[in-house]
Amino acid sequence: MNDFTKIIVSENDIGRKLDVMSAQIRADYAGKDLLLVGVLKGAVMVMADLARRMPPTVQMDWMAISSYGSGTKSSGVVRILKDLDADLTGKHVLIVEDIIDSGLTLSWLLGNLQSRGAESVEIAALLRKPDAVKVEVPIKYLGFDIPNEFVVGYGLDFAEKYRTLPFVAILNPEVYGG
Ligand code: PRP
Ligand code: MN
Ligand code: MG
Repeated sequence: MNDFTKIIVSENDIGRKLDVMSAQIRADYAGKDLLLVGVLKGAVMVMADLARRMPPTVQMDWMAISSYGSGTKSSGVVRILKDLDADLTGKHVLIVEDIIDSGLTLSWLLGNLQSRGAESVEIAALLRKPDAVKVEVPIKYLGFDIPNEFVVGYGLDFAEKYRTLPFVAILNPEVYGG
């Protein structure tokens, strides 16, 4: 059995897209101090590859968040498991995410970070599932729109596995008993 039925975003696709996105970001934030905020754990890969395309003065910080209850992701109610180390007052913040699915995580996070006195808060996401979006969030830098399939790789997991793949692939339903 193959664990994946199809690679939908290749390693080369990701690299080329990050070149484009990072060029836009570098231009938009020229002369400004930029703080990249990654959401653990999915954003680890895109954060690493995006940050290495930034000037060496770029800063990184991390949040770990979780929905309340079990499997109640759709509630949009979020709990902070690990907060930022940085004080955001006066900072230019760019949230870095691997994927926007329903949009509930980012919608909450955007509001939360905006309330901390940042000079600006914007969003960069490598992937978005337009057919799964429940809340529209303003994404300033977007990589790819992808179909509403169960995808893994490049940070995205199934039961914490497959995050380390260098590409994004559709998971074989046999893996999760589908
Ligand atoms: C995934 C993904 C995004 C979020 C998107 O994270 O990495 O952070 O879900 O979903 P949404 O748009 O419906 O809110 P997950 O909660 O699986 O945690 P992980 O990053 O540790 O895998
Ligand atoms: Mn995540
Ligand atoms: Mg996950």
